[in-house]
Amino acid sequence: MKIAVVGTGYVGLVTGTCLAETGNQVICVDINEKKVKMMQEGQLPIYEPGLELLFTRNITQGRLHFTSNLAEALEESKIIFLALPTPPGGDGAADLSYVLGAAKDIAKLIKEYKVIVTKSTVPVGTADKITAVLQEHTDMEFAVVSNPEFLREGVAVEDFMKPDRIVIGTDDERARKLMGELYAPYVRQGNPIIYMDQRSSELTKYAANSFLATKISFMNEIANLCELVGADVDMIRRGIGSDDRIGRRFLFSGIGYGGSCFPKDVQALAKSAKENNYDFKILNAVMDVNDIQRTILVEKVKQYYQGNVKGKKFAIWGLAFKPETDDIREAPALYIIDELVKAGAIISAFDPEAMENVKNVVGDKITYTDNQYDALDGADALLILTEWSVFRTPDFDQLEAKLKAKVIFDGRNLYDIQKMIDCGYYYNSIGRKV
Ligand code: UGA
Repeated sequence: MKIAVVGTGYVGLVTGTCLAETGNQVICVDINEKKVKMMQEGQLPIYEPGLELLFTRNITQGRLHFTSNLAEALEESKIIFLALPTPPGGDGAADLSYVLGAAKDIAKLIKEYKVIVTKSTVPVGTADKITAVLQEHTDMEFAVVSNPEFLREGVAVEDFMKPDRIVIGTDDERARKLMGELYAPYVRQGNPIIYMDQRSSELTKYAANSFLATKISFMNEIANLCELVGADVDMIRRGIGSDDRIGRRFLFSGIGYGGSCFPKDVQALAKSAKENNYDFKILNAVMDVNDIQRTILVEKVKQYYQGNVKGKKFAIWGLAFKPETDDIREAPALYIIDELVKAGAIISAFDPEAMENVKNVVGDKITYTDNQYDALDGADALLILTEWSVFRTPDFDQLEAKLKAKVIFDGRNLYDIQKMIDCGYYYNSIGRKV
């Protein structure tokens, strides 16, 4: 099939590349000519494990193309994916100007029946808005389909190629058939394609992310309670996760959820509920808990130093909002760094992928080291903020030699508490006994 993908951000690139991988002819379009040129030369503008291999292969084999010319992209494409940004507007609601602007441009260019698919996370009713814009600017037949993505950064290729489910929201029979054919190679393992109406599909995406965020905030509150009653959140996680109705995944407590999706989507869903005169109480609590959890480690640090961290030097391991990404959007590390720097602390940080991004935002307020051990030189304590695999089994001899004091605040519960205590560490983690 011939496919156009409008927008070559994270979602657009993963979608375009993975659709080419099953034999489709895919043309990705972006207004940023410099970026298009870079991609035409085979350079991948984002970091995502496993994507580069597929990206290069599909370009080389002539299935994946790039252009800044929308007309060229639309010419032969039957299905047009919109993978455009929907940033939170000033009021917390998703800003649809990119999506609706693209719909208008597309309407003016199409000369035959097209299926226009929203891949970006968009509020309920967006498909209707797109339909209205298209109807205003074209007499051609078209269908608007909601097909939300459920890709996790870091494992997006796997999530796309072997999805748990595919949600397709449309009432148009022709579009339903085409979308079914397009996705058939991805559901070989029997995972379902779930067809529904557009509004249910749009809301499914927000409900999924908000439910997962709720699980996390719930576990973070359990962790906080564990510390007060002398219980261990790891045990609670195992104890409840083995119940199928609860499930093992997404029960890890830590320093709050971050990234470009959960914070934005929970906020947008709460806002959309409010607009519909519904007070979504759970979501408000989920956000409140996360706000507190993001800086809980700072509170622990301050408590340890009796409220005074001025002049203390802290090593930070991990800056990205989660491992296997260089993404620092809404990363707890940024909030923690901000609080500690404000309190007069000196910070030396290392992250395997996200250092450049942090430098652009935080600048020289902190120092950056080339490897994880250099960050420890003369530090009063180590703070672990992202659970990168390289931090899981560090060289403890180097740790001991370089740290000024054997003190670790672990926001990701990486080490065995008893082992740390036996090695003479003050080891404070989340929801476990100190
Ligand atoms: C999330 C969803 O998992 C995807 O299904 C969805 O498609 C995507 O948002 C999106 O809307 O585009 P992502 O933001 O890449 O994916 O990251 P996750 O792996 O879901 O992690 C989100 C945050 O939750 C991270 O800060 C992570 O540290 C935190 N988390 C996750 C926990 O604190 N505990 C857990 O048990 C799991």
